[in-house]
Amino acid sequence: MTDKTYETVKIEREDGITFLIMNRPEKRNAMSPQLHFDMEDAMDHLALDEATKVLVITGAGPAFCAGQDLRLYFRGTENDPVMRHKAHEASDNWRWLKLTRFPKLTIAMVNGYCFGGGLTQMAACDLAIAAEDALFGASEINWGILPGGNVSWVMTQLMSHRDAMHYAITGDTWDGKRAVEIGAVNYCAPREKLREETIKLAKKMMEKNPMAVRFTKEAIRTVRTMSEVDARDYLAAKSAALILRDKEGGRQKGMSQFLDEKSFRPGLGAYARKPGESK
Ligand code: ACO
Repeated sequence: MTDKTYETVKIEREDGITFLIMNRPEKRNAMSPQLHFDMEDAMDHLALDEATKVLVITGAGPAFCAGQDLRLYFRGTENDPVMRHKAHEASDNWRWLKLTRFPKLTIAMVNGYCFGGGLTQMAACDLAIAAEDALFGASEINWGILPGGNVSWVMTQLMSHRDAMHYAITGDTWDGKRAVEIGAVNYCAPREKLREETIKLAKKMMEKNPMAVRFTKEAIRTVRTMSEVDARDYLAAKSAALILRDKEGGRQKGMSQFLDEKSFRPGLGAYARKPGESK
């Protein structure tokens, strides 16, 4: 599939890893209506792209994303309800609905500033890795609003009540190292090693059965808000569905490699798969 070109978004590819890059570096990747439209379109394109095994969301230049574009997203649509509605829908769609439901593993590679609404797409990715000196913040309080969209909610999902309250009401920033401490990202790395570490993580995930990865990430998201009883029922159905959907028959293969061939240890890594065996 040939990639489209976009005004505000860039696509780069490396060994099955697709980097979807918010590309307004001169505006610190602040999200204009056009950026929302471009990201939404690109995500639809990549969801069906067989060459994309892992999707990495990141930003061009010194920022991951400086939040909604105050000039173009807010002020620019004040007198244009149609555009405001379209931009708002696209913003919610790609940053949350499409990202949380994306059929392949997603990683947020937080390369720099990540403020306000930019926290949403960071949180929506399955995993997140940040530059040690990346700077995060719920800066809304600094200009007299509250973290809207779903930002207040994602903060309470990502960190403790105390931390969410503290960062939302003070507007204090936190860096990549602190983001690991409070559980907002999985790892951090020196800025010059960020891409290399992200690729390492993506490649590790590409060794696993892709349908099992997809079903597992869906399960982890879904059971969070369920009772234990409901979760058991859901997980039984989900497990049965995985066996049906998994074209490479991972469960049988893994069992046989462990029990019969004694060629692998499930506790220590993925069973042997042929490259390109499964979609
Ligand atoms: N909206 C609109 N324009 C922005 C935004 C934004 N959120 N963030 C940065 N820009 C623009 C600046 O206005 C500037 O444009 P100009 O060159 O035309 O003057 C350009 O991007 C570069 O910004 P600087 O402030 O000069 O860059 P610097 O590297 O010094 O600082 C920083 C970066 C810290 C991200 C700063 O720009 C900032 O505080 N931005 C706002 C962050 C914020 O509060 N985001 C939340 C928005 S609210 C929401 O998302 C719901």
